[in-house]
Parts: sequence; structure tokens; C-alpha cells
Amino acid sequence: MDKSRVTLETASTRIENIVAEYRDQKWALIPLLQKIQEELGYIPPEAIQPIAKALDLFPSQVQGVITFYTQLYTTPRGKMVVRVCRGTACHVRGGKTILKLVKRHLGIDEGQTTPDFEYTLETVACIGVCALAPNMVIGGTTYGRMNPKKVAQLFGERKGEG
Ligand code: FES
Repeated sequence: MDKSRVTLETASTRIENIVAEYRDQKWALIPLLQKIQEELGYIPPEAIQPIAKALDLFPSQVQGVITFYTQLYTTPRGKMVVRVCRGTACHVRGGKTILKLVKRHLGIDEGQTTPDFEYTLETVACIGVCALAPNMVIGGTTYGRMNPKKVAQLFGERKGEG
């Protein structure tokens, strides 16, 4: 049995267990979705049908809630979310180059996740620390005054992966 099959089966068992906890509690749709995301890192599309059934909702209602809340994700995300600022202050101080280098080191584009699910790359309009531009955030940590050397220090060993 290959690893991806085991992972899929584990995910489906976890979904079943979580859904069972919330059965018939229509009000609990959002906490249920949050719990699945907490456990799996995202809400797999195959979870929608069992959730709808357990809470006596239409699948379209479940899908509608997932679409409405931007913090709910339907595709797998990395353990670490990397956010590179594309705001004006960062842009004029080389933010575009920083983004290009991060993409190269991670081997992914904006909105993508590395195949090992370590990193998801996003851009943001402004991190709120413009004076330190160009900026990026990895997980909960902000890195200011970014330059190519710092990018290499943070992601250097990943070069060529992805
Ligand atoms: S524009 Fe980048 S932190 Fe504000």
C-alpha cells in the first residue's frame, strides 16, 4: 500500500470521527469545519457530503460557508505559510526581487504549497511594518529589511527542491 493511500485513509477516518462528534448539531457547522481544518490542515472536498448528511444540510450550504470564510481552505496548505509583502513601500525597496527569490528557493508560485507540505507561499498587500521594508512573514515571525542574502539564509538549503 503506498503512502498517499494510507494518508487518504487516515484523513477519511479522522473526518468520520470529527463528523460523528457533531452529528445533528446544525449550529456547529463552523466549529466542525474549523476542527477538520485544525486536524488536516484543510477541508478536503470529500468531507462536504458526510458533513452535510450529519448536520441535515445541503452540500451546497456547507460549500457556501467554506467559500464565505477566507480562513477555511479546501486545498492542503504547508506547515508554514510564507507571506511576502507586495505593498508599495516594500515594492519600491525590492519586494519584487524578494518574492522572485523566495519562489525560486521554494520551487513554487504564489498560492502554491511545496510537495512536502512544509511551505505555502502567499503575498499580502501590507504587513503593517512599512518602515522595515521589504518585509515577509514566515509562520508568525516577521522578517524586515529583507535582501537576497537573508532569503538564502532562510531557505538556502531548500534550493533545487520542489
Ligand atoms: S508595504 Fe510592506 S509592510 Fe507595508
